[in-house]
Amino acid sequence: MKLTSLQKLIDLKGKTAIVTGGALGIGFGIAYRLAEAGANVVVADINEDAGRKAAQELNNNEWQSMFVKVDVSNEKDVQSAVDLVVKTFGSIDILVNNAGIYPIISVIQMTSSDFEKILNVNLKSVFLFTKAVAEVMINKGKGGKIINITSIDALHPSSVGLAVYDASKHGLWGFTKNTALELAPHNIQVNAIAPGGIATPGTGAGKPVTPEMEAILKKFLEKIPMKRMGEPDEIGKTALFLASDLSSYMTGSQIVVDGGVLLS
Ligand SMILES: NC(=O)c1ccc[n+]([C@@H]2O[C@H](COP(=O)([O-])OP(=O)(O)OC[C@H]3O[C@@H](n4cnc5c(N)ncnc54)[C@H](O)[C@@H]3O)[C@@H](O)[C@H]2O)c1
Repeated sequence: MKLTSLQKLIDLKGKTAIVTGGALGIGFGIAYRLAEAGANVVVADINEDAGRKAAQELNNNEWQSMFVKVDVSNEKDVQSAVDLVVKTFGSIDILVNNAGIYPIISVIQMTSSDFEKILNVNLKSVFLFTKAVAEVMINKGKGGKIINITSIDALHPSSVGLAVYDASKHGLWGFTKNTALELAPHNIQVNAIAPGGIATPGTGAGKPVTPEMEAILKKFLEKIPMKRMGEPDEIGKTALFLASDLSSYMTGSQIVVDGGVLLS
């Protein structure tokens, strides 16, 4: 059997990728590696300033990127973003469902609207994007890759105050496995990445945003066997593996990238 060269395996030239929440943090780490590998990268984010800056930074490296403003929990926004990407680049080959929120609110204090917001941004959004993008992939008949960013909290709770977040991520892991089954006949591979603690704007990137977050991070850090937080690029490199031909026989899997914290 003739083996494809390593360079060719990770070459994403001619492919188009959407990265939700691609403006900052893990999303930008993923957008960076996919753009470096040659993909046209669409940064789909609600934060217009950061999103435009992110796309510009990728374009400055002579890579291809475009920003699209989208609230991932809004069906109309999602459909018009997908339509615009198809109009601009002709197809969509890779979808990374990364946008997510993780407010720390105990169940006792949580309102129904907090609950709905977390579920809408973390889970309904993935349904909306998967449905719209899978339709394009199926019509084009060239298959595709869908990568869902779950969390170690999809497997085991990391801290108190994240009950509804954990429900959204357990849900996303279930959704990943079942869509992998449904879309396999169309050569669309669906996998997940479960990050542990990653230094991003959302976690304070070394400078925690709230005293609650600071306390949680301090406790969490003590439990990490590798004794450090992960970097967004460490998720970016894993996403490149799942977006490329390096993962040609994988679907319905979840890769844990957590410095060993689930072991402790
Ligand atoms: N950072 C971690 O330690 C960690 C650990 C496990 C899982 N995750 C998951 O990784 C993903 C990214 O986390 P992060 O730490 O990089 O977050 P972050 O808060 O640093 O960045 C999130 C990005 O998503 C965007 N976003 C938020 N709501 C949106 C919406 N409604 N529509 C469009 N864009 C929206 C933000 O504008 C921002 O650019 C999330 O799904 C999170 O649950 C993060």
